[in-house]
Amino acid sequence: MADQHRSPLDRRTLLRGAGSGVAAATWLVGCGSDDEGSGSTETQSEPTTLSAGDVAVGSGVILDDTYVVTQPTEGEFKAFTAICTHNGCPVASVKDDTITCNCHGSQYDAATGEVTRGPATEALAEVALSVDGDTLTVG
Ligand code: FES
Repeated sequence: MADQHRSPLDRRTLLRGAGSGVAAATWLVGCGSDDEGSGSTETQSEPTTLSAGDVAVGSGVILDDTYVVTQPTEGEFKAFTAICTHNGCPVASVKDDTITCNCHGSQYDAATGEVTRGPATEALAEVALSVDGDTLTVG
């Protein structure tokens, strides 16, 4: 599997909004098709901050393939691991209250992390999130 070379990126670059075809294509390159996920699906727990204004209602953002932060209803924020429970790909997008993994098409409810379409069978794990004014801290 090809290594992905990553350079230091600013926070805006790391925030991938809904429908980012380039980001989805990047993740597809890194996903094996029959690999059982050679590593753990656990995420690193380094806290990350972002502005609440970066997270649209009914949508969400994916933070550096570690966390996905959603806002199912106005003022209600949720955070989940961004690693698909099916085979370990980072999820690719959040749109219409749905988190999607492009590797094999699994989808998750953006409010609960529960699977809404397989092949994944397990929910995305919820991650601690705190709100301080306009600042969200995840992890
Ligand atoms: S890794 Fe298969 S659907 Fe996400």
